[in-house]
Amino acid sequence: MHSHCNSGELNIHAATIYFMDISSFFRKKSIAQILQSSAEKGGDAGHPSLSRHLRLVDLISLGIAAIVGAGIFSTIGVASSEGGPGVIFLFIFTAVACGFAAFAYAEFASMVPVAGSAYTYSYVAFGELIAWIIGWALIMEYAVGNVTVAVSWSDYFTGLLDSIRIGSLNGIHIPEWASIDYVSALRGFNVATAAIGTGKPFSDLDSFTQTACLAWQNAPVIGGLHIIADIPALAINILITWLVYTGIKESRNASNIMVGIKLSVILLVIGVGIFYVDTSNWNPFLPNGIGGVLGGVSAVFFAYIGFDALSTTVEECKNPSRDLPRGIMWAIIICTVLYILIALILTGIIKYDQLRVGDPLAFAFNKINLKWFSGIIAVSAVVAMTSVLLVFQIGQPRIWMSMSRDGLLPKHFSKIHPKYKTPSYATIITGLAVGIPTLFVPGDVILDLCSMGTLFAFVLVCGGVLKLQNTPGRPAGKFRTPYINGKFIMPLLLLTSAVLTFIYANEWLRGILTFSDWDSTAHNIPMILFIILTVVLTMFTYLKNLSLIPLLGMIFCAYMMAQIKLTSWLGFLIWLTIGLTLYFSYGYRKSKLISEDRRQNTGNREF
Ligand code: ALA
Repeated sequence: MHSHCNSGELNIHAATIYFMDISSFFRKKSIAQILQSSAEKGGDAGHPSLSRHLRLVDLISLGIAAIVGAGIFSTIGVASSEGGPGVIFLFIFTAVACGFAAFAYAEFASMVPVAGSAYTYSYVAFGELIAWIIGWALIMEYAVGNVTVAVSWSDYFTGLLDSIRIGSLNGIHIPEWASIDYVSALRGFNVATAAIGTGKPFSDLDSFTQTACLAWQNAPVIGGLHIIADIPALAINILITWLVYTGIKESRNASNIMVGIKLSVILLVIGVGIFYVDTSNWNPFLPNGIGGVLGGVSAVFFAYIGFDALSTTVEECKNPSRDLPRGIMWAIIICTVLYILIALILTGIIKYDQLRVGDPLAFAFNKINLKWFSGIIAVSAVVAMTSVLLVFQIGQPRIWMSMSRDGLLPKHFSKIHPKYKTPSYATIITGLAVGIPTLFVPGDVILDLCSMGTLFAFVLVCGGVLKLQNTPGRPAGKFRTPYINGKFIMPLLLLTSAVLTFIYANEWLRGILTFSDWDSTAHNIPMILFIILTVVLTMFTYLKNLSLIPLLGMIFCAYMMAQIKLTSWLGFLIWLTIGLTLYFSYGYRKSKLISEDRRQNTGNREF
C-alpha cells in the first residue's frame, strides 16, 4: 500500500515536471530582461561593447546595400520574361508585402533595441522554442543567402575578367574547374554525356552545361578526386569576412562607397535607357496574364530581401528607436521606385521574351549597341553583389551573438573583439559557414531556401506584433504600426478575393481542391495550408479586432511561401528538424532563461 502510494506520488511528480518542461519551451523573455542581458554583455559588466557609429543616412545606405543586388541585376530577367512589362505589378505587390513586414520589424526594433532581429522579437512574443526556430531559419536567409549571392558574384566576376580587352590583353580566363562548384560540374558532365550519347553536338548544349562539362574534364585529379572549387566565391567571402571582422565603421564606409556606385549606375541606366524605350514593347502589358506575373514571385522577392538585416545593427546605431524604422522604410521605398523604373525601361528597350538571361541589364544595352555601357553595368553588378554580401555577413554573426547571450549557443558566439568591437568569433564562423558550401553547393538549389527562411521570419514577426497587440501592459517603443481595425475589412477582403478567384481563376481553384493523385495533391499542400491559415486568421480578426497591417503582412508573406515549390518546402522542413534536434540536445539544457526558472523553482521547493 505504501509503495503504491509512493509510485502514485512519483507519477504525479513526473507529470508535473513534464508539464513544466513543455511550458518552459514557451517561456518568454521580458523586454527588461533582454535589455539587461544585452547591457551586461555589452559593456556594463566590463565586457567590450559594440560601437555606435550608424546614423539615419548610413542605415538607409546599408538598407540599399543589402537590397539591391543579384535580384535586380540578374533574376529580374527571368521574372520579366514570364510576366512581361506587367512584372511591375509583382514588384508593387512584393513591396507592399515587405512594407507591411517592415512596419513589424520597425515596431519591434524600436521596442527591443538589441541585435537579434526576428530571433529576439520572437523571444518576446512567442517564447524560446519559436525564437530558436526563427534564429535557425534566419541562417537560411543570411548565411545560405550569401552562398547564393557569392556564387552569382563569381559568375559575374569571371565573365567580367574574360571580357577585359586592353591592348594585347585579350581577357583574363580563370579555368572552369576553379570557378564552378563541384556538384554543378558533375551534373553538367552527366547531362552533356547523356546528350552527346543521343547524337547531339557539344556546341549545341547551353553555355552553362558546356562550362560545367569542361570544368569536370579539365580538372586536376588527385587520387581519383576531381579538384573543382569556386575559388572567386571563396575569395570574396574571405575578403568580406575580414572587413566585417575589423569593424562596423570600416564596413559602413565600404558599404557607403559601394551604394554610391550602384545607385549612380542604376540612375544612369534609367536616364540613358529612357531614350531607347520603344513603347510598342509594352504591348501586351500582361502577355501571360496574372499567372505569368506570379511565376516570378521567388525571383522578385529575392530582390527585396535584406531590409530586415538593418535591425541586426540596432546596437550600433546612434539613435536606434528613431532612425531604424525610418531607415528601413526609406530603403524599401527608394528600392521599389528604382525597381519599377528599371523593369519598365528593360521591357521597353527589348521585348520581354528575350530577357531570359543571367545579366538582363547588360544584355539589353548590348542589344542597342551601347557595349561600353553594358560593361559599366557588369562592373556595377559585381559591386552591388559585394555590398549585399557585406550586409548579410554583418547580420548573421549578430543574430548568433544574441542567441549565445541567451545561452542557446556556446558563449564564444557572443565574444566581442576587444579592439575591433565586433562579434569576432561569430564572424569567423559565418565566414566558414558561407565559404565551405560555396565550394561545392550550386547557388540555384538554395535560392528558394533563402526566400523560404526569410518569408518564414517575416510571417512570425508580423504575427508577433499581432500577438503583443492585445497583451496588457505591453511596452511601447517610439514607433507603433498604425492601427486599422481589421474586424470587418478582413472578412470583406476574404469574401471579395474568394468571389474574384471563383470567377476568374475557377480552373486553378478546382485544380487546388481536387484530390486526384498523390503527386499533384502534395504540390497543392502549401496553397491549401495558406487558404486554411487565411480563413483562421480572418476569424480571429473578427473576434479580436486584430490590426490590419501586420495581418496583411502575414497573409501576403504566407502567400508567397505557398508559391514556392514543394521540394524547397521539404528542404526547409529538414533544416528545421536539424535545428530542433540541436535545440533539444544543447540549447534547451543551456538556456539561461530556463536555468533561471529551474533555480527559482528549486529555491521555492527548498523554501
Ligand atoms: N536582395 C538581395 C539581392 O537581390 C538579396 O541580391
